[in-house]
Amino acid sequence: MLSIISLMAKSTPAERIEALRDKIRHHEHLYYVMDAPEISDADYDVIVRELQALEKEHPELITPDSPTQRVGGKPKEGFPKVAHSRPMLSLDNVTSEEELRDWDRRVRERAGENVEISYVCEYKLDGLSMALHYQAKDGQEAKAADAKNVSADLVRALTRGNGTIGEDVTTNVRTIRSVPLSVSAEKLVKAKLPSTFEVRGEVVMPLKAFLKANEEREAQGLTPAANPRNYAAGTIRTLEPNIVAQRRLDFYAYFALTATGENLFTEQSDALDALTAAGFRVNPHREAIHTFDKIMDFVNRAEKHRADLGYEIDGVVIKVSSTELQARLGYTGRAPRWAVAYKFTARAGITQVEDIKVQVGRTGKLTPVAWLKPVVIGGTTVSRATLHNADFIGQLGLKIDDWVKVERGGDVIPKVVEVVEDEAQPRGHTKFHFPTHCPECNSEIVRAEGEADYRCVNVDCPARLRESLLHYASRGVMNIEGLGEAMVTQLLDRKMVSSIADLYKLDEAGLLSLERVGEKSARTLLKEIEQSKKAPLNRVLYGLGIRFIGERTAQLLAEEFGSMDALMVASQEELERVNEVGPRVSQAIREFFDEEKNRILVERLRATGLTFTAEKRKKSSELEGLTFVLTGTLPNLSREDAKAKIETAGGRVSGSVSKKTSYVVAGEEAGSKLEKAQELKVPVIDEARLLELLGGS
Ligand code: IVH
Repeated sequence: MLSIISLMAKSTPAERIEALRDKIRHHEHLYYVMDAPEISDADYDVIVRELQALEKEHPELITPDSPTQRVGGKPKEGFPKVAHSRPMLSLDNVTSEEELRDWDRRVRERAGENVEISYVCEYKLDGLSMALHYQAKDGQEAKAADAKNVSADLVRALTRGNGTIGEDVTTNVRTIRSVPLSVSAEKLVKAKLPSTFEVRGEVVMPLKAFLKANEEREAQGLTPAANPRNYAAGTIRTLEPNIVAQRRLDFYAYFALTATGENLFTEQSDALDALTAAGFRVNPHREAIHTFDKIMDFVNRAEKHRADLGYEIDGVVIKVSSTELQARLGYTGRAPRWAVAYKFTARAGITQVEDIKVQVGRTGKLTPVAWLKPVVIGGTTVSRATLHNADFIGQLGLKIDDWVKVERGGDVIPKVVEVVEDEAQPRGHTKFHFPTHCPECNSEIVRAEGEADYRCVNVDCPARLRESLLHYASRGVMNIEGLGEAMVTQLLDRKMVSSIADLYKLDEAGLLSLERVGEKSARTLLKEIEQSKKAPLNRVLYGLGIRFIGERTAQLLAEEFGSMDALMVASQEELERVNEVGPRVSQAIREFFDEEKNRILVERLRATGLTFTAEKRKKSSELEGLTFVLTGTLPNLSREDAKAKIETAGGRVSGSVSKKTSYVVAGEEAGSKLEKAQELKVPVIDEARLLELLGGS
């Protein structure tokens, strides 16, 4: 009888919550670690929402290892210093086959005759090293053999620091989705890991995340970060876990240690397999190798594929696989004898600045560019590098004829990073003066308060038109293949286009009159242009080149407003209802459509047959029936903004906390309402979580 009842009984909230968490962890692992999701984002959101709702109903069941708890409170007093279980060392470098051969010979000599050596080759990820400490749940110590029911929780994440003492950045590392917050007992058993252990590895910023973050910095008038490593290191040390969560860092594991810093496995290759089995992201580019030639093969292949990886590597790490042999080989000062880094040829070079010229972009932005004595960096000849803006030149104290270090980082555009000076490379003498007028059209240039860039204000500036056409035609925007630099230059020189809309007036005869244009390419281009008429609203919006409107914002605006007409008349206030649209963006949109020329452009595009089609998003009613109380200062949203957003999504905002309150949204210096919420066990969330509930990112 009892068993029948228990069979019939529905699961308790606690059981349902655990089941949902397991499911979410499983899908997070597939998505963030394996890059192989099995369900759509929307289906994933449904499960997360159900868990959030249940946790809201049963706040007493919320545990720190819940997938909903990645973004927690801010670290209160910076980052405490904590000693490492054993020092985090660096590696000796080699930069040629010859040096590597020497290292291999020394290893073999020390190992002794007749000792077979197996190496593991791994990519040398260009990030920052991190130690993650996992502990048996609830402090229950257990060995793998009897750990059947003990899972491991992430309890601490330490930066390398000075190698002996690191900084505790746990709150930030928890937001990295490829870092498991807990490892289940089953996984531990499968991976042959105890439930208390340490994982070491590298935190990196994927290039996509880097480029996006830099785009945002530029949109905000900030100088872009130099490279993904610096940006990752800076991000890990910010005091805002929210920001860290948005930057989408990644973690790759490469060592498995006991809590006291001993190796957990007798072979490095086994350690990597175990970490994979436990759910950590381990770089798939790894190989057990026995002969020197194969090591060089691995290095050469790695260098060849370096550009296609989506994250930066700066070499290959070669490790003796046997930990017993590692111990015998030992250490020299700061580096192990049993491992070495083969560093690729630097992606930086030193050369001389021959001139500084100022380019005008499609939004009128003036960018100073260094014209360099050509230098080969990482296999590519570099003769131009960006100098970002006038302030940057000032900070460097850069003069024409100076020698500079140029880096090719994650960005395609090389950049000047510093001025170098020595006997052979003396300082230059010619001071550079930033122009007072547009170098292309001689119009006035302005620099808005708080912005780093000067802009040409002339909307008819030929340079702006040229860049606008190139942007409009480019891949990911209107995808007009065949409308590249050479074609655009000719069209402008012959005065065949003086506006984006003129592209739709081009005909075969006109195109055939251009140089190096045959019948076939003329027809293809016309077909491409015709095809672009069907581009959806979001791409046209992006293509118009409105300041601050990138791909994503254009998409959000198109979803929210559903038509060009609705958007053209929207007030700043209405525009700001869109997640991620703030006053600067809304003002830019308004200014764009308030300009008669731009309205005429839209009408001309419409007249030529552009459809601007978009599907309006269903009004969200995610917050239907929920009551919110706002308290304290939120990091980004004003009270009014937060209220408007909640109400638009169907929720209610009330002034006082009661048992009926669904959520208290607390910001900085929240007062008695927060206490009341805690007393009544009303869930307290921060701004980021509110935005999540609102269906944003
Ligand atoms: S092993 C004592 N493996 O390179 C062993 N390091 O210059 C040192 N790194 O501080 C670490 N990828 O931050 C190892 N697959 C890899 C690595 C790697 C990147 C970094 C790590 C270390 C630095 C050494």
